[in-house]
Amino acid sequence: MTIGIFDSGVGGLSVWREIDRLMPAWDVLYVADQAHVPYGPRPLAQVRRFSEGVARFLIDQGSAVVVVACNTASAAALQHLRHTFPHTPFVGMEPAVKPAVENTHTGRVGVIATQATFQGELFAALLERFAAGVTVLTQVCPGLVEAVEAGALDTPETERLLRSCLSPLIEGGIDQLVLGCTHYPFLQPLIARIVGPGVEIIDPAPAVARQTGRVLEQMGLRPIQGTGCRTFYTTGSTPAFAAMVERLVGGSGSVKNLAWDNANCELGIAKNAP
Ligand code: DGL
Repeated sequence: MTIGIFDSGVGGLSVWREIDRLMPAWDVLYVADQAHVPYGPRPLAQVRRFSEGVARFLIDQGSAVVVVACNTASAAALQHLRHTFPHTPFVGMEPAVKPAVENTHTGRVGVIATQATFQGELFAALLERFAAGVTVLTQVCPGLVEAVEAGALDTPETERLLRSCLSPLIEGGIDQLVLGCTHYPFLQPLIARIVGPGVEIIDPAPAVARQTGRVLEQMGLRPIQGTGCRTFYTTGSTPAFAAMVERLVGGSGSVKNLAWDNANCELGIAKNAP
């Protein structure tokens, strides 16, 4: 019995880190679908297919719960995954509009996320439910996910990208900034420097970790004492991903390679790992 987590790449490690902190005794499997990163600019139907393939792999490997540590995949596929795998609970991500709306004093909140996240029904539903009377300014940041994947967390180019995507929000008078993509928390120091102390930055990862804990508790599941085994899989380069795990979350664990069987959109453990 393990906790399965996935993302298009390294972004979901910002959720992994919180789950690891909260539930260190659980075995955790993490899949980074780096063969297809970024998910954000892709059609929702394609992201849904990839997400189903990854979820099936995690369930086959014994995941008691699957955490979709990717706002884009949650927007594109969460409903579909719950329908396709009715015996497995899924914990998804959504931009934290609710706390931002509760905390704002200016009545203006900003959300940064991928194009696909803003297109999904989930985001429209969130605005309808929680954002009455508040102005929500949204912004897509092309290139930012790729920058995090490349480890460019504080380079002049990443700063330029971020300034251009954040300036309309800052000029729009926001006092809350929702990180609607799991890659962005790794840029938080740089983001904080750009938006300044008057803007509160909201990362939903701790809340998602707590929700995962509640789901396991409701299922009456407990970790096997003292295991806490961490396994990471990538559909991209294993050494490059291992280096990013080490750098971003200081994670120790085994890193393995997965390969897509494109015809069936199924994942398998790769024989000749790059
Ligand atoms: N980390 C992702 C998210 O939360 C995916 C970004 C991408 O692959 O474009 O949206």
